[in-house]
This record gives sequence, C-alpha cells and structure tokens, in this order.
Amino acid sequence: MIHQKISSIIQSRRSIYPSAFNGEMIEEDIIIQLLENANHAPSHKMTQPWRFKIFGNDSKKKLLDEIIKKKEISEIKKKKLEVSFNKSSHIICICMKRNKDLLPEWEEIAATSMAVQNIWISCVDSNIGGYWSTPKYMNQLRTFLQLHQDEICLGFFYLGMHDSKKENTTRRGNLYEKIQWFR
Ligand SMILES: Cc1cc2nc3c(=O)[nH]c(=O)nc-3n(C[C@H](O)[C@H](O)[C@H](O)COP(=O)(O)O)c2cc1C
Repeated sequence: MIHQKISSIIQSRRSIYPSAFNGEMIEEDIIIQLLENANHAPSHKMTQPWRFKIFGNDSKKKLLDEIIKKKEISEIKKKKLEVSFNKSSHIICICMKRNKDLLPEWEEIAATSMAVQNIWISCVDSNIGGYWSTPKYMNQLRTFLQLHQDEICLGFFYLGMHDSKKENTTRRGNLYEKIQWFR
C-alpha cells in the first residue's frame, strides 16, 4: 500500500508563480533544507550532477540586470520580469555537471530533474512556493553564472513566500490513456 501522505504531497504540488508571492524573504536555513532534499535525488553511478547557484538580495538584482542586458525585450516584459524578481525571495539557477565519460546526457538531466522535484514537493503544505522557468536566455548567461565547460544551466527555480491557497486542480490527462498493461 502506498503511503497516503506521499500521494497527497505529490498530488498537491503546484507551480506557484511570482505574481502570487508576497515579497517576504525565506530564511537561508530553509533554502538549505530544500537543497538538502534535492541532494538526496537518485543518480546513475551516483554522479550527483545537480548544481545550484543561489541568488537573493543584491545578487538577485545583478542577475536581473544581466538578463535585461542580454535579452532584447520589450519594456512591458522588462517590467514584468522586474516585478517577478522583486517578489521572489530567491532564484535558484538549476545547473548540471556532465560526466560525459560515464553517462549519456539525458540520464544526468533526468537526475537533476529529480533533484528539482524534491525541492518542489518539499514546498507542499508550506507558505513557500516556486516554479521552474526555462527561458531561452538561460544559455546566454554562462559567463555570468561562472559555468565551467562541463556544466549547463537548465533553468531557474523561482522561490517566494505566498499566502494563496492554490486550488489543487491537477489538469492532468487521463492516466489510462497513458498506460499499457502487459499482463
Ligand atoms: C522542465 C520544466 C520547465 C518548465 N518551464 C516553464 C517555463 O519556462 N515557464 C513557465 O511558465 N512554466 C514552466 N514550467 C512549469 C509548468 O508549466 C508547470 O509545471 C505545468 O503547467 C504544470 O503545472 P503544475 O506545476 O502546477 O502542476 C516548467 C516545468 C518543467 C517541469
């Protein structure tokens, strides 16, 4: 029997977008707890390819400036990005370190994604919300992010405090259309 609590946590995980954040800061030790859970994700040959770059306060502002500098965006989009950054407590850049002699890339992306899922489900039932953003410009920030040659950026995890009670509407398609039993 599957633990009911696990099912409940997994099924109530939602993307909480910065528009719902209230601008409050998340304590650094909570950020570490989230990342500690991320660090317990599985990985083939235990390569543990996930890497996290954490931006808060001043560094968050520098990241925003860098994005605006790199990206050709309209004033409206720029304003929207500024609001998202201001309302977020921290922005975690999700990175992945390749072990190309050991594994194909997809396995390391998969492991890093599992680490992100651990962060995401750790936010359930708390006032911490987040979502994974994968803008095209993430690939133009390599120097700013101090990525080594064997590292890539897989997006940003926006984290913030929120008061909303987002309804648990999963909007998932029917499971039975996605499975095939071989009995
Ligand atoms: C790998 C990945 C990349 C994503 N990138 C974006 C993104 O760039 N912008 C966005 O608005 N949402 C992004 N999302 C969030 C999805 O849109 C969201 O998870 C989906 O709509 C389901 O909603 P839920 O997370 O509340 O269940 C991403 C999610 C994943 C897993």
